[in-house]
Amino acid sequence: MSEFKRVAESDHELDFADEFDDSDEDLSGDVQQFAKQRFRLLIIVSVGVSLSAILVTLLYVLSKVSFLAPGEKVGGGTKNTVVNDIPKLGLVLSPTPSASEILRDNLPHLIYGTAWKKNSTKALVETAVINGFRIIDTANQPKHYNEEGTGDGWTSAAEILGLKRNDFFLQTKFSPLRDQDSKNVPYNKSESLPDMIYQSAHGSLLNLQTDYLDALMLHSPYKKFDDTLTAWRAMESLVDDGIVLQIGISNCYKFETFSKLYEMARIKPQILQNHLKTINFDPQFLQFTRDHPGMQYQAFCTLTSNKHHLQKKEIRELASRKGLSTQLYMYGFLLSLGITPLDGSKTHQVEDLEFLRKLRGGEIKIFENEEEINEMAELLEMKLP
Ligand SMILES: NC(=O)c1ccc[n+]([C@@H]2O[C@H](COP(=O)([O-])OP(=O)(O)OC[C@H]3O[C@@H](n4cnc5c(N)ncnc54)[C@H](OP(=O)(O)O)[C@@H]3O)[C@@H](O)[C@H]2O)c1
Repeated sequence: MSEFKRVAESDHELDFADEFDDSDEDLSGDVQQFAKQRFRLLIIVSVGVSLSAILVTLLYVLSKVSFLAPGEKVGGGTKNTVVNDIPKLGLVLSPTPSASEILRDNLPHLIYGTAWKKNSTKALVETAVINGFRIIDTANQPKHYNEEGTGDGWTSAAEILGLKRNDFFLQTKFSPLRDQDSKNVPYNKSESLPDMIYQSAHGSLLNLQTDYLDALMLHSPYKKFDDTLTAWRAMESLVDDGIVLQIGISNCYKFETFSKLYEMARIKPQILQNHLKTINFDPQFLQFTRDHPGMQYQAFCTLTSNKHHLQKKEIRELASRKGLSTQLYMYGFLLSLGITPLDGSKTHQVEDLEFLRKLRGGEIKIFENEEEINEMAELLEMKLP
């Protein structure tokens, strides 16, 4: 046995050294060969280790980001998706249906409300869209809404997510002069009512950075029905011009006024947006919207104006039986009735949207039958049609 083989044996490298066993070459040739073999082995091992490391890193990254939907929990957290994370990840897929799919398929949804958000409007609307809201409510009423911020918010989120204008439904309002801050009226207050409406709607187009509005609402009817009708005619002409696709009315609580307007309208209202305090709820409006397919009943202050009811022990128990908070149970209740709540959430966006996803996917069924709906309505002291 050569000297080399003894060295090799002592190093437990016999298998490799065997190659040299019957060699007639001298020891220095053996050593050279062995050095070459070791070098090759080293290369093979290094390449193997590097490939494994790359593979493990790739699998880890994919498991963390590739199938995350916007707003999905990251690392078990429940906070809203951090806006700045989205462009960085760049791999986020959106399973969220577009506004037209939501409305066409009558999917349960919430409308993102932008009132009272002031300078945070842009950031909150951007986050809302990234988290999955597609229908957005605003008004050309600087006293309560920052319509420009809403425009900046949806456009910025659309750019991040690669969405187009027609993935959204943007609804805004013409607010009569008496509801405006006299020092900040977004139209010329000495113009005729129709001209105020045209100016307001064109201002909304600029603020929202769009060339059409999915819906324009009269923020509240006038005391005189004739003025309401004049306003309506001006809104109809905006539909004729193709600037507005749908028109609606808000804060209309006299059923007589509403049904008269509906009757006289050449272009019928498609949205009724009202305050929802359950004890004052007038079921005639809901019955009317149910009887007129294509009409939507939207409700605001659904959580804030009914807080005292939602604290009731019975409602807390009903909600917890479904594994829900009373607020989500309330949203589910209204959706079951055919009422679409507005939701201006700042900190519960992800929670509210996850709830909607589960509702759409059938993971949650709020009510098994009519009796359960009636039980909740009774607890809320709300008359149903
Ligand atoms: N047509 C009109 O005259 C009129 C009048 C008022 C409002 N609006 C529209 O309606 C929108 C909504 O307004 P709103 O008055 O209904 O109320 P809101 O501004 O949406 O306030 C709802 C409150 O409920 C909380 N919330 C949301 N989801 C929750 C959850 N899952 N659990 C616990 N709390 C939850 C929110 O808290 P966080 O913020 O912490 O999430 C917020 O404090 C407005 O932004 C506006 O667009 C229209």
